[in-house]
Amino acid sequence: MSTSTVGISALGVHFPSAALPLAELGALRGVDPNKYLSGLGCHEMALCPAGTDVVTLAVEAARRALASWSGSMGDIGLIVVGTETAKDMSRPLSAWVAEELGLSGAVRSYEVKHACYGGTLALRQAVEWQLSGAARGKSALVIAADVALYAPEDSGEPTQGAGAVAMIVGTPDVAAVDVASFPFSQPAFDFWRPVGQAFPSVEGQLSLDCYKLAAASCFADYVAYEQAESTAKQTPSPAEVLNELERVCFHVPFPKMVKKAVAEVGERLGLDEATTAGFYESKVVPTMRINQRVGNCYTASLWISVASALAGMKPGTRVGAFSYGSGFGGELLTLSAGPKAAEGAWMTAAERDLNEREMLDAAAYAALRAAHLKG
Ligand code: COA
Repeated sequence: MSTSTVGISALGVHFPSAALPLAELGALRGVDPNKYLSGLGCHEMALCPAGTDVVTLAVEAARRALASWSGSMGDIGLIVVGTETAKDMSRPLSAWVAEELGLSGAVRSYEVKHACYGGTLALRQAVEWQLSGAARGKSALVIAADVALYAPEDSGEPTQGAGAVAMIVGTPDVAAVDVASFPFSQPAFDFWRPVGQAFPSVEGQLSLDCYKLAAASCFADYVAYEQAESTAKQTPSPAEVLNELERVCFHVPFPKMVKKAVAEVGERLGLDEATTAGFYESKVVPTMRINQRVGNCYTASLWISVASALAGMKPGTRVGAFSYGSGFGGELLTLSAGPKAAEGAWMTAAERDLNEREMLDAAAYAALRAAHLKG
């Protein structure tokens, strides 16, 4: 296990003020709602009403993180936004966000793109910027924000969502991010959105296979690394290595995807079915509680799960975080809860967002999409 003196100092999580129960989408599309509810594992999708977009989501998440942090705006030396909801091919989304926050000066500002993996890459870059010494005492503001919409009636439509997570990267008050991480990539066209195309093109089944391959490869590397690092008399088994993680979070395009990926991981590691099922139920399912209520938030999806898992944890408790982005790339990170995790302050505003949302019906959703398509 590698230890780190760098990590997440503060967190902010934000969701838009509208949502659609998946049963309503089933009624609109003439699909048995059980396909969405139990077939995919999705219950509600977060939707942006007029006036809310990826920038407003990112800015509010950032404001929440900054408000709960002991530092000031002058202590930020890097702002980086991971997103696949770019507003421009040249101007980074971080410029819109920095403008709203009044952040300028000796600050590096840029956007990272790699489908749903972009937020994790942004976080890794900020962690490595800290570890390299280049930060010179400053902290980074990392934001993962997206509005995930598919063409109406696309097979991906039931998995839509929207949300943002902001993380200040510096001292590990909320969580330390371990130095070692476990990436895997392979070029593929499983999900892509050409320049000028409003909605993504998806090879749905291929994207499932790519995700499973990335997850199995990253977890196999992690287990081999931990076994090699172990000082115990007997090399720990794969199940024992996984057991060291109290919670294991995944990118959640839809919860069934995660279940399939865990089965693949178990098979690659040689776990029996009961062990894999036990791992999934006890360590993974509890981390997807909020994802089921907001849908796929692309770059923010994994970090919503991590933010919810960390809340209430004792210092030192370990968490796994598997990121996946189409194209495709994956990476497994490990974190340890810090002293501020137990109070889980960031969840108060996030839960309020969820509980105060306007729940749309099928007709209101159809009207919202029609207005969006008109621009
Ligand atoms: N009751 C209960 N379950 C039902 C059902 C019903 N009436 N009808 C179908 N299902 C189940 C299916 O058996 C299937 O479950 P299984 O995979 O465990 O067998 C599940 O619901 C989904 O059905 P499927 O026919 O595979 O859905 P689809 O092809 O319409 O869409 C995706 C699934 C993933 C292809 C689609 O959501 C998509 O394109 N998503 C975007 C891409 C994505 O998220 N990729 C993930 C990696 S990033």
